[in-house]
Amino acid sequence: MSGSQTAEAVDLAEEEQLDNSRAPRMDQSQAVAEDFQSVAQEEYETHGTVTAEDPVMTVRDCNVFYGDAQALFDVNLDIGRNQVVALIGPSGCGKSTFIRCLNRMNDTIDTAVVTGDIRLYGEDINSKSTDVVLLRARVGMVFQKPNPFPKSIFENVAYGPRLHGLASNRAELDEIVETSLRRAGLWEEAKDRLDQPGTGLSGGQQQRLCIARTIAVNPEVILMDEPCSALDPIATARIEDLIDELSENYAIAIVTHSMQQAARVSQRTAYFHLGKLIEVDETNRIFTNPGHKLTEDYVTGRFG
Ligand SMILES: Nc1ncnc2c1ncn2[C@@H]1O[C@H](COP(=O)(O)OP(=O)(O)OP(=O)(O)O)[C@@H](O)[C@H]1O
Ligand SMILES: [Mg+2]
Repeated sequence: MSGSQTAEAVDLAEEEQLDNSRAPRMDQSQAVAEDFQSVAQEEYETHGTVTAEDPVMTVRDCNVFYGDAQALFDVNLDIGRNQVVALIGPSGCGKSTFIRCLNRMNDTIDTAVVTGDIRLYGEDINSKSTDVVLLRARVGMVFQKPNPFPKSIFENVAYGPRLHGLASNRAELDEIVETSLRRAGLWEEAKDRLDQPGTGLSGGQQQRLCIARTIAVNPEVILMDEPCSALDPIATARIEDLIDELSENYAIAIVTHSMQQAARVSQRTAYFHLGKLIEVDETNRIFTNPGHKLTEDYVTGRFG
């Protein structure tokens, strides 16, 4: 991409943020449709670098089927320690399907079949001997819509540590709850109302409560599926700051429809398209000089 195209890419990406409809432009739609078809039909090898220097999770040749329909095709990707990887791509391209593979949440969908080799620190997470409850503590998940349990703020955070026997007495449990709420940036707002229902918090506070609940069980990886899409810009900015802080201790994979968010919070970005991982590289490169035409079409707002 030339310098002027790069500037155009950034401008268009910013414009896209303002106009989230991302409708394909008429003059380019034919070319985009052709690219789209070629990827649907061809064997595909991901552009860029799928490996991470210090991988916490490795995914190799991952395919996912919902009944007869294939949703992911031969995806290879590492999730690196102390790093945020953003997963982007058009609706229905398989982002949620992919992150659900990382903590076996697809097990909860009857028709879903996952193949391939997925490891957490070298251990095969799909092995019969895997304790799935423990796996989901080690690979925690924060959803699009904040989903606190219908319990008090304290109990929301204390639930996991109790389940996993992480505290041997009440003082230790109190300590875990306070530390988790502090790290999630919610302690000051919540400390005087710990016995009140979690559902009584604002949306942004509820999402931070869900993050506190996730980190209370000492995860190694945090998965986030559009964690800010139900939040206002101020609550979103708080969560983004938090993601930045959390990446000092955890490996994070975040699905987002906002390219600006991907650019702000991640070090690596992975672009999915029709169930294929088209390209993964340093975030800066994906947004300024992507290696694949489809990635460029998407980040410049020509397709989405
Ligand atoms: N539970 C399910 N049963 C059947 N098909 C599913 C199921 N969940 C997802 N799919 C299909 O798998 C494909 C990938 O869906 P997925 O939800 O992973 O996409 P996504 O990239 O997360 O999209 P969005 O940006 O809209 O959230 C889509 O074709 C979708 O219809
Ligand atoms: Mg999704």
